[in-house]
Amino acid sequence: MTDSIQYTVNSPFRPEEIQSLINSAGLTQIKPLSRLVGMITGSDAYVTARAGDTLIGFGRLLTDYHSIAYINYMVVDPAYQRKGVGQAILEKLVEASGDVERVFLYTDTADAFYMRHGFTPSEKRLYVYRKKGTEHGGPS
Ligand SMILES: CC(C)(COP(=O)(O)OP(=O)(O)OC[C@H]1O[C@@H](n2cnc3c(N)ncnc32)[C@H](O)[C@@H]1OP(=O)(O)O)[C@@H](O)C(=O)NCCC(=O)NCCS
Repeated sequence: MTDSIQYTVNSPFRPEEIQSLINSAGLTQIKPLSRLVGMITGSDAYVTARAGDTLIGFGRLLTDYHSIAYINYMVVDPAYQRKGVGQAILEKLVEASGDVERVFLYTDTADAFYMRHGFTPSEKRLYVYRKKGTEHGGPS
């Protein structure tokens, strides 16, 4: 079932298929659709996983290629979870990050997944500045 999955970086996508993947995995919807598209096309790299034509996995990356990178919005269709798809997407994103020293991410749903794949809780506290008037919801 997972042998025929194709992983590509920065290849065309339909916004609706990303939305329905997000829905299927129970993540917060990004609205409106134009914002979702902007988030993806504004990323330095994004990975899509397809079984035939069907989108079954996604993840995106912001990176400066030299020092730090940030992975965000990893999602795998529940029917394909725990078969190595998430690992394959994660590896491609880390590879796409360039020569960085550290790759950050935030999760409150998948700690065991990231820890299994070499991520450790940060030794420093991560801070966030929330810009006023931009409360759209969506990924951390
Ligand atoms: C997190 C997620 C992307 C992982 O993708 P995946 O394809 O299931 O992961 P893999 O098959 O490559 O790795 C699975 C391994 O991770 C670990 N793991 C621990 N908890 C897990 C969990 N809740 N889900 C998936 N894997 C988990 C296990 O070691 C598991 O291996 P095992 O099945 O042999 O026990 C996927 O479960 C998902 O989309 N979850 C819902 C959305 C989400 O929470 N995204 C993360 C946002 S930061």
